[in-house]
Amino acid sequence: MMRKNKAHSLLRKARTVLSSLRSLAPLVVLSALLHSCKNKDSIPETVTFTEHVAPILFGNCTICHRPGGNAHFSLVTYEDARKNAGASAFVTKERMMPPWPADPHYTSFIGQRVLSDREIKILEKWQAEGAPQGPAEKLPKLPAYPDGSDVRTPDMRIAVSPYLLKANSSDQFLLVKVPFQLPQDTFASLIEFIPGRHNVVHHVNGDMISYDYDKKGDVNAGERALDMQNDTSKLLEAYRRLGLPNDDGSYPVLQKSVVNYLPGAMGQNYSDGIGGYKLTRKGVFLLNDLHYGFTKSEDISDSSYINIFFSKTPPKRPVQEFQLGTLSSFGNAPVLPDLIIQPNTVKQVYSKYTVPDDISILTVNPHMHLLGKSFKAYALKPNGDTIRLVSIPRWDFNWQYFYTFKTMVKIPKGSTIVAEGVYDNTKQNLNNPFSPPRLVRDNNGSMKATDEMFQFIVTYLPYQPGDEHVSLERK
Ligand code: HEC
Repeated sequence: MMRKNKAHSLLRKARTVLSSLRSLAPLVVLSALLHSCKNKDSIPETVTFTEHVAPILFGNCTICHRPGGNAHFSLVTYEDARKNAGASAFVTKERMMPPWPADPHYTSFIGQRVLSDREIKILEKWQAEGAPQGPAEKLPKLPAYPDGSDVRTPDMRIAVSPYLLKANSSDQFLLVKVPFQLPQDTFASLIEFIPGRHNVVHHVNGDMISYDYDKKGDVNAGERALDMQNDTSKLLEAYRRLGLPNDDGSYPVLQKSVVNYLPGAMGQNYSDGIGGYKLTRKGVFLLNDLHYGFTKSEDISDSSYINIFFSKTPPKRPVQEFQLGTLSSFGNAPVLPDLIIQPNTVKQVYSKYTVPDDISILTVNPHMHLLGKSFKAYALKPNGDTIRLVSIPRWDFNWQYFYTFKTMVKIPKGSTIVAEGVYDNTKQNLNNPFSPPRLVRDNNGSMKATDEMFQFIVTYLPYQPGDEHVSLERK
């Protein structure tokens, strides 16, 4: 049986530790006081919600923990925060929240949400001292959370077919087709996925299929959504059921990772000239992995949609992508040794690829499933130097970001990109989908979360002088 969701194990752990924490509270306070000194980094003598805690929550938590946000409880009001003070102190101290699995000491990225040690201590002290409210006038303003788009009003909006999630269902992983037709070929600067029901839409990795107008009659033909968890179809069979091939059976062009979504991560809108897409008159967004979380006691109907922002000019430097590992794009960066993970073992694998030209990396996306334990990737330059890319000391299946560097990272020709992963197929792994553990492998082309994958996806541009100084921050 699939275990329902990580949240349960996290919560269970939080509760056990919390009850033992209560008895330690006076000690914690004492040590916090002893360490306080008189500079701005010191912990205030009295920690209150309005003055000290709200700024931390509003800056790092409420983007998800708010009414209509993707987390299942809110941290917006004093009452909300007070009720969850103990759990919040615990999950922040354990660095489970805010969710940011990448080690900030290895490399840092745009949009990184990581609390300082001081902020963690403030949350801890606040809960230990009974979570006082503080003076109303100190309360900062809650940030405005845009509705319908993270950017602005889109030029076009395409509905994803509504999907009904039955009450009490476990996680679902869908392969979804979102067809579109335009009056003419055109360009877009950004394509954005907006979840309908934030609390159940967990993540999306979406590609775009572009048809030669004459080769495809009806882009709407075929099924709209396949459940990849219950469905045993391999990818090619699934593609046929969705009606993706051209009329003559050949395959159209597919561009990877055009529209991704993960709560709290905004669609990437690079500076002028970088990125952007060509849209053909007939096309399909193929949401590879529309991950719906578990539902509670009621049915939920989700109507998500895709926003398109047109551009008058063709992309000057279209973003390219390659991937190492399972189904690697060159076929010559396989997972080594084979991804076959015996029960009750911890297994280490790697994949590597030597870049034939200078490239500038924009984003990296490590990918594993439920047995993932840790992940690390770096490049080895021909002179032996190491360029750090990303390190995830504690793998979290639920939070697989496309990490965007603040400025592009130049990887010189002849460098070898190395990705290393560790899998834990023991019962100590709380996310192990099987109890007792079973043999798990990368079932070539299977996307089931209970099969494994090892992938490292890199988006890049051919290098141009000065790239390492170009900011990738959102315009
Ligand atoms: C990017 C979205 C996001 C951000 C930012 C975020 N959380 Fe969460 N949080 C979640 C989700 C979703 C869950 C449910 C468990 C999961 O999926 O990991 C959760 C779970 C929790 C839990 C576990 C409680 C339970 O009942 O399961 C606590 C406590 C918590 N968050 C506190 C915080 C605090 C405090 C912050 C800020 C310092 C924060 N979170 C930031 C999305 C977020």
